[in-house]
Amino acid sequence: MSDKVKCIGVLTSGGDAPGMNAAIRAVVREGLAKGVRMVGIRRGYAGLLQEEISEMDAHSVSDIISRGGTILQTARCKEFRDVEYQKKGAEICRKHGIDAIVVIGGDGSYQGARALSRQGINTVGLPGTIDLDIASTEYTIGFDTAVNTAMEAIDKIRDTSTSHERCSIVEVMGRGAGYIALWCGIANGAEDVLLPEKYDFDEQKLVNHIIESKRIGKQHHLIINAEGIGHSVSMAKRIEAATGIETRATILGHMQRGGSPTAKDRVYASTMGAMAVDLLCKGVTDRVIGQLGGRFVDTDIEEALEMQKEIDEFQVRICRTFGGFPDETE
Ligand code: ADP
Ligand code: F6P
Repeated sequence: MSDKVKCIGVLTSGGDAPGMNAAIRAVVREGLAKGVRMVGIRRGYAGLLQEEISEMDAHSVSDIISRGGTILQTARCKEFRDVEYQKKGAEICRKHGIDAIVVIGGDGSYQGARALSRQGINTVGLPGTIDLDIASTEYTIGFDTAVNTAMEAIDKIRDTSTSHERCSIVEVMGRGAGYIALWCGIANGAEDVLLPEKYDFDEQKLVNHIIESKRIGKQHHLIINAEGIGHSVSMAKRIEAATGIETRATILGHMQRGGSPTAKDRVYASTMGAMAVDLLCKGVTDRVIGQLGGRFVDTDIEEALEMQKEIDEFQVRICRTFGGFPDETE
């Protein structure tokens, strides 16, 4: 029984990610095992402000570990950037006897957690996003599932692309971050990968590469394009006009955010969820859980939010080398 906290709330915020349910289950069951009252807050910070709060018992998280999405649902709540609403959120926590909250989400959600903490509610964050774009961790809940979902879809597109000797542009998620694109670029053996972190908007280079691929006998030309660059449909039209090679665009979209989590996402989310509760039960606050150098760690939230994440240059290089499109800037 923790003497530091009597009640812990859990919420999911921002874009959902496969494995969030495994994290919720871990948080609830670890808390209950420690004699803490557990409550779920629905629809992220929006639900907190609406007092969408309910008791969670062991049964309330039964049969969810294999399910995608989040049973608590999620939301984006603009108001919560405003200190008045952050104060209101903390008051609602006190009204419901909530001493501490586990926030599962991305960097934006971490900022909400820090704000709540400044208003006197202890918080620990768990990295929940398919984008892998949180600097304080090398792993985020949902990335493994999402990248495998995208990879399997792209394998199928590659088959038909080869049969028709076409060029295919496949757009994967990642508005500001190219990790899904980069991983698919390597895993699917793409000829080109367009990353928001690296793209120089020189479409002529791409056109030249496609023509060269055809000349050396390649039966397809697969381009993975990150959402952050976008415009895949118009790009396909321009490429077809410039190369004379039939070109199709496919936008994978939100299918990448759903589906049953991989073993890795289930196990890591469970581990991290339990770690978050253990910290809160010791009276610790303002931490975020992550994985660095193969070890699960917790980092000060302030430091975590200051950190910058760089795309892996070595992986970018090999992706381009294997696709026959070496980086000319090197
Ligand atoms: P993610 O958590 O995946 O990065 P968002 O950036 O959309 O997703 O953030 C999720 C939610 O976190 C926002 O809708 C908002 O409620 C909250 N949030 C984001 N930025 C802040 C901020 N600066 N201060 C307080 N809350 C924030
Ligand atoms: O959660 C991250 C993410 O899937 C990004 O890759 C994508 O840009 C964004 O969310 C899409 O958000 P929405 O669900 O609002 O379309």
